[in-house]
Amino acid sequence: MLETDKILEELALIKDLKGLENFFDKYLGKKWLLNEEFKKMTTLSIEEKKEYGKVLSDAKTIMTDAYEIKEQWLSIDSINEKLREDIVDISLEGKKIEQWSFNLITRVRRDLEEAARTMWFMVESGNEVATKFQNFESVNIPLTHPATEMHDTIYLNEKDNSGEFLVLRTHTSALQNYMIKKYWVPLKVIIPWRCYRFDEMDANHDTMFFQFEGMYIDKWVSIANFKDVMEKFLSVMLKRKVEIRMRPGFFPFVEPGFEIDARYELVDRKTWEKSLSKWIELLWAGMVHPNVLKIAGVDPEEYSGFAFWPWINRLAAMRYGIKDIRYFTNGDLRFAKSFK
Ligand code: DAH
Repeated sequence: MLETDKILEELALIKDLKGLENFFDKYLGKKWLLNEEFKKMTTLSIEEKKEYGKVLSDAKTIMTDAYEIKEQWLSIDSINEKLREDIVDISLEGKKIEQWSFNLITRVRRDLEEAARTMWFMVESGNEVATKFQNFESVNIPLTHPATEMHDTIYLNEKDNSGEFLVLRTHTSALQNYMIKKYWVPLKVIIPWRCYRFDEMDANHDTMFFQFEGMYIDKWVSIANFKDVMEKFLSVMLKRKVEIRMRPGFFPFVEPGFEIDARYELVDRKTWEKSLSKWIELLWAGMVHPNVLKIAGVDPEEYSGFAFWPWINRLAAMRYGIKDIRYFTNGDLRFAKSFK
């Protein structure tokens, strides 16, 4: 007689896929025990055959099902076993990564860019190596101007196509002409970043420093537009309502030129009393000089515009209370880490 229970017990005790294979050969494969039992049926009467045939086929179904379930379990077990072998112990102490933060100038520059973007200015970096034409003449600074002398400008050994020595741009205004020619007018662009001068280093001067140029050229751009844009720009940048005042200033590439002071509302955290901050000089700016437009091929009768120059060091110093601009670039990690 077929002892299904015993066979199933045997199946339950199998621990690996190899054992299961043997089990299959023994009971369910070609030479399976059930076959023998089926053979025995030839000696039985028709009634007995019917009865025993059913017992055998039921047994076959039960055993096959049990076998398949067992096979699934063992396969999962073997996969898990492999995974356990391959496991990487991440609990081991690794190399500690220093917590970093952005340079303060970078943070201010990004805020300036963000504020300018909200007013649809595009951000362009431009080249740091400039021709003398770009750096001076294109922005209405004649080559006889003292700033072109060696003591101010850093010259390179390489020459441009006209045989003049190339320079490291001394101001971002050097890109005005290039941007007008590249994008033509109307134009709304900001050009942030590095400039170089042959300067004695002190708390306010460094050979490499940061500038940020803005320029807007279109038909009918007036001083009133300019004041409005500047007020909005500074308000977005400083995240509070800013009021500005304009004083005359001289820069060769603007006419009229302005020095712009800003002040904003202060709220006493204890009494909630409101007061106004001091006037702080924050921007240099002006209406783009007709010569600058002409040199770039733009008709000053048709187009006008303004250029502005937020004082990035002043803004950073104001926000973070820094007295010496050399801190921004001297790579002292203690300084960098103190502003998270
Ligand atoms: N380029 C000037 C400098 O480096 C700064 C400046 C002043 C830029 C007035 C401007 C401006 O666009 O309108 O000293």
